[in-house]
Order: sequence, then C-alpha cells, then structure tokens
Amino acid sequence: MPRYKVTVVGAGMVGGTLAQRLAERDYAHVVLVDIVEGLPQGKALDITEAGPIYGYDSVVTGTNGYQETAGSDLVVITSGIARKPGMSRDDLLRTNAGIVREVTERVRETSPEAVLVVVSNPLDAMVTLAHRVSGFPKQRVVGMAGVLDSARYRTFIAMELGVSVEDVHGFVLGGHGDTMVPLPRYTNVAGIPLTQLLPADRIQAVVERTRNGGGEIVSLLKTGSAYAAPSASVVEMVDAILLDKKRVLPCAALLEGEYGIDGIFVGVPCVLGAGGVERILEIELTAEERAALHRSAEAVRELWQALEGTPATS
Ligand code: NAI
Ligand code: 2OP
Repeated sequence: MPRYKVTVVGAGMVGGTLAQRLAERDYAHVVLVDIVEGLPQGKALDITEAGPIYGYDSVVTGTNGYQETAGSDLVVITSGIARKPGMSRDDLLRTNAGIVREVTERVRETSPEAVLVVVSNPLDAMVTLAHRVSGFPKQRVVGMAGVLDSARYRTFIAMELGVSVEDVHGFVLGGHGDTMVPLPRYTNVAGIPLTQLLPADRIQAVVERTRNGGGEIVSLLKTGSAYAAPSASVVEMVDAILLDKKRVLPCAALLEGEYGIDGIFVGVPCVLGAGGVERILEIELTAEERAALHRSAEAVRELWQALEGTPATS
C-alpha cells in the first residue's frame, strides 16, 4: 500500500504519543524530530518494536535533522516549552515563537507542499506565526485546539448525564484559552438539545470546567500538561486531511472577514479534507455568542500583536 509521510516535530509528550498513535493507524510512515539527541531515535525505535504486537508496518524514524522529513505530506509542530513557575506569559510566547519560527523555516525548505498542523502554545498565535513564516496558502496551515476543547466539553457532558460520549455532539469556538466559547445552543445528545437535558447551572459548570480543562490536568500532573487527549485530537485532524474525509471539526483557521474577524487564526468550524481547511462554516450566533467570540479573538490579537513587536529571531 502506498503510504503517506507524516513528520512530527517535537518528540516530547504530545509528539511522542502522536507518533505512536499515527504508527498504529498504519497508513503513514512517521518521522519524529527533536533537538535532543537520542530522544526521537529512542522513541521511534520503541514505537517500531510495538509493530509486531499491534500489527503495523509503518516505518517510524527518529532524527535531529530535517533531511529525513523531506517531501512530507503533513507536518505537525509540537515543539516548544511549557510555562514554568516564574515564567511570564510573554516569556513563553517569545520562547515558543522562536522555536516555531525556526521549525517552520526548515519545513518550508524541506516539505513545501505539506499541510502544516500546529499544536505548540499559545496555539492561536503560534499558528498565525507559522502561516506568516511558511508563506503557505491559508488552507494548508491549521491549528489544533478546538477538537481537544470540544472533546473535553463532550466528556464532561457525558459524565453529567451518564450517557455515552459517542452520543454527545457539540463544539467549542474561539481561542485556546480562558476566553474559549463552548456553544450549548449547538450541543445535542443523540439529537436532543442539551438545554432539554441539563439545567442551566449545570451547563454553566460544564462550560467553566471546559475552559479550565488544560489547567485542571496541569494541576494534577504538576510536571507537565495533557498529552493523551491532545495527541488523539491531532490524529482526528490528520485522518480527516490525509483520508480526505471532509470532517467538520473546530480548528484554528485564518479568518479573513468570516464572523467579522480579520487577519488572525481563531477556532471556527472547518471542513477538513485533502486540501487542508477546505471551507470555514459560518454558523448563526446570537449577539451574546458573537460578542464572546469577538472577545476571544481580541485576546488572540493582543498576543499576536505582542509577538509582532518582538525581533524576528527571538
Ligand atoms: P514537551 O516538553 O514534552 O515536548 C516538547 C518537545 O519539543 C521537547 O522534546 C523539546 O526538546 C522539543 N523541542 C524544543 N525546541 C525544539 C526545536 N527547535 N526543534 C525540535 N524540537 C524542539 O511538551 P508537550 O507536552 O509535548 O507539549 C508540546 C507543546 O504543545 C507545548 O507548547 C504545549 O503547551 C502544547 N500543547 C498544545 C495543545 C493544544 O491544544 N494546542 C495541547 C497540549 C499541548
Ligand atoms: C491543554 O489544553 C496545555 O494547551 C494544553 O491541555
């Protein structure tokens, strides 16, 4: 079977788990890249050695360079650092921007036709940066956050109602942060509106827990952030793109007037297929929902403007 080639940059918790999940899908060869010597090589070999048990033949290669990544169909950027105690939001922004910029420049040289999926935080600013640096058409650059935030939202609803997560449909718009916008009005359980099943105060509690979903995991893990659900979320997007599924998923996409927002990447419902972000769906929002989305977009814009004011090689 002809296989796709997927590069995962960053062999940390998200990148390493993602490489494993992709190998298990068995439709792509995977190249894992990191600056730490031995880390991507070790993880790649370990994943390869699980192949006989799981029954996959994906070739997983670990490297500290980009030669092996050449001609990738899809590249996922997970490289970056997590916020450490005492580190300001701006410090994190600048450090990860330097990493994402450098990685994107290498990807632009080696895989000019790839679809770029950005995971590094702060997500919406990093994917906006990767788009600018890559020069790729907007359809081929997309950020992962909405799938994760929506998965958390759906999980908490299923927990509240004691029903299968498979029957809970709903999504979260906006930036990946405190200002994200879960949409109860568009949420249903096997077609039944959520608002008929759960009282308003419980819905609000789910919304708040979703907004704090990343922080809740960090406060439990203490030494890192979530990686199981984030890597699963990326796989859902990679499946949609490489298998041309036309999935409707909330993703960070470049808005050029949609929802009255321009020039930044923010989470909106997208049709994901072989071309990347093939369409942005503009759904009807109440004045309140629209105002919340705009507040979230403004928070992303502020971060992006803080970044634009910093030197290119920070
Ligand atoms: P991690 O610290 O486990 O892994 C990051 C890896 O990036 C490390 O192995 C590091 O050596 C590598 N790295 C650093 N600079 C590099 C460079 N220039 N080139 C190649 N590799 C480089 O972190 P983890 O948990 O895997 O998270 C990765 C990023 O993803 C973080 O920024 C995190 O905040 C973000 N994240 C975003 C989510 C989202 O919803 N968008 C969800 C979860 C994590
Ligand atoms: C999360 O939401 C840290 O962005 C990451 O888990």
